[in-house]
Amino acid sequence: MIEITDKAFTCKDVTKKFSCGHKAVDSVSFHIKKGECLGLVGESGSGKSTLARCLLQLEKMDQGEMYLANQPLHGMNKRMLRKLRRNIQAVLQNPTASLNPRIKIIDQLMEPLDVQKDVTPSFLKEVHHSREHIAQYLMEMVGVPSKYLMMYPHELSGGQKQRVNIARAISIEPSLIILDEPTASLDVSIQAMILNLLKDLQESLGLSYLFISHDLAAVNFMSHRIMIMQHGRIVDECNQRDLFSNKRHSYTKELISVFES
Ligand SMILES: Nc1ncnc2c1ncn2[C@@H]1O[C@H](COP(=O)(O)OP(=O)(O)OP(=O)(O)O)[C@@H](O)[C@H]1O
Ligand SMILES: [Mg+2]
Repeated sequence: MIEITDKAFTCKDVTKKFSCGHKAVDSVSFHIKKGECLGLVGESGSGKSTLARCLLQLEKMDQGEMYLANQPLHGMNKRMLRKLRRNIQAVLQNPTASLNPRIKIIDQLMEPLDVQKDVTPSFLKEVHHSREHIAQYLMEMVGVPSKYLMMYPHELSGGQKQRVNIARAISIEPSLIILDEPTASLDVSIQAMILNLLKDLQESLGLSYLFISHDLAAVNFMSHRIMIMQHGRIVDECNQRDLFSNKRHSYTKELISVFES
């Protein structure tokens, strides 16, 4: 019998040790509810991106379990895994590196839906009859004029490219979107606009996010709950409103004092 759950994603004891012997991720467990943004903060080198890469199956974990809702991802055959894996999308730090310079924006934007022909997200129901209309609608959702659909990545600004990456990530209404420092390489003047866009989409579409950053202000703005990572381990976890409470772990307080100084 399938148990009904409000969990979009769960991982248990995820561990990654590099061949040099360094344990970058050490027994990390958490869940993300449907419609929830879980923040992950920690200093540089604490293992945030390695954890993200393990969840995206870009890095092979040494130990651990992962579930999309109740569906286990570990021990799955390759074909099934590839299909389920699309339910976890990512927006990474460098918008240019995430796009192929030789492929037109429309084809990169539509790639997830072109592959998953049987998927029609609820928010695209009214335009689903036409690929072009879907592409235009997605561009509108992220605030990029549709004339850019026929252009190549070098013809877009960094902010516009990241907006396209965001549109592509939401296009199949995935169970989870991993945002790894999505604004870190953008001009300061547009970082807040991109965060606002991500937050609006999360709220209006009920998306689930793992939002990774070393910027406490950004994590605090975006997240419902926050995990704090140090040396590969989750050392503290709290609701957003309790982040600045004096009950926090000494390492969290250290991060806060650096942030406030
Ligand atoms: N392929 C690799 N081989 C060996 N060590 C690695 C590899 N990738 C990452 N590491 C190490 O794992 C640790 C965690 O790196 P990771 O990139 O996950 O940190 P991070 O928290 O994302 O940092 P940042 O905030 O700078 O992005 C670091 O000590 C890093 O040097
Ligand atoms: Mg990182």
